[in-house]
Amino acid sequence: MPIQIKQLHRHFVGEVSGVDLTKPLTEDEARDIEAGMDQYAVLIFHGQDISDEQQMAFALNFGERENPRGGNIVKPQDSRLSTGLNDVSNLGKDGKPLPPDSRVHLFNLGNCLWHSDSSFRPVPAKFSLLSARVVNPKGGNTEFADMRAAYDALDDETKAEIEDMICEHSLMYSRGSLGFLDYTEEEKQLFKPVLQRLVRTHPAHGRKSLYLSSHAGAIQGMTVPEARLLLRDLNEHATQSEFVYVHKWALHDLVMWDNRQTMHRVRRYDQSQPRDMRRATVAGTAPTVAQQAAE
Ligand code: OGA
Ligand code: MN
Repeated sequence: MPIQIKQLHRHFVGEVSGVDLTKPLTEDEARDIEAGMDQYAVLIFHGQDISDEQQMAFALNFGERENPRGGNIVKPQDSRLSTGLNDVSNLGKDGKPLPPDSRVHLFNLGNCLWHSDSSFRPVPAKFSLLSARVVNPKGGNTEFADMRAAYDALDDETKAEIEDMICEHSLMYSRGSLGFLDYTEEEKQLFKPVLQRLVRTHPAHGRKSLYLSSHAGAIQGMTVPEARLLLRDLNEHATQSEFVYVHKWALHDLVMWDNRQTMHRVRRYDQSQPRDMRRATVAGTAPTVAQQAAE
């Protein structure tokens, strides 16, 4: 039976049925899912009791794996997962929730800010695939915003004003906005700002998107306060409820999103209880700007 996709939101988000992600995909299935991603930008799969290896194999249907280095402050030897997935849980290597004053925990709280994955990398991520292994009892919904619909709804004057703007993105900007300001010299090197267009065009269908993220902290040719006010206004516009879908997790849901045309955030949850979420990330293929190091 071919896969089926039911649209869940006025602008985006498809709920997929008729596929088992623990098994290798057929060519038709992989093609239908990629086409679904282009169209819906977020796809929801229920009841996928998947291993780390199966999740990684599923992700590799859509491109290469993104190297997780440089995306966190966890040292490789302290990492809980060894299979190449990004650990988006609140757990330490001992499998228990991280203590409230843990530096890793405080850094990870940045995921509660609206963002696009890896916008702090010179070549930012294409798709993210997040699997729910343990659902937290309180809070922890993940929200998605359709950045194509948000772009379309801007007035023509704003569209013209921002068309060629270039932003600087860094993990130090997103974490800094929460008051997390202490970095080692090594982390400062790793988190050096990169450049991203503020408006990007999707390679498959050519629709434009607002390319916003909490990692954006400056705009070239503008003062920082002016740039941040503009970014705040655009973020406020783009995350109005009209453009937002709220996902309430069930065990073994797998949610896949296109970072080129959406933003997302996780809502606060009970940090004394486990929340085990694991992400496979598909690398992007091109920078949004011919890169120059932004010092
Ligand atoms: C992510 C992320 C949100 C969540 O995996 O990139 O931001 O719900 N996760 O944990
Ligand atoms: Mn994320």
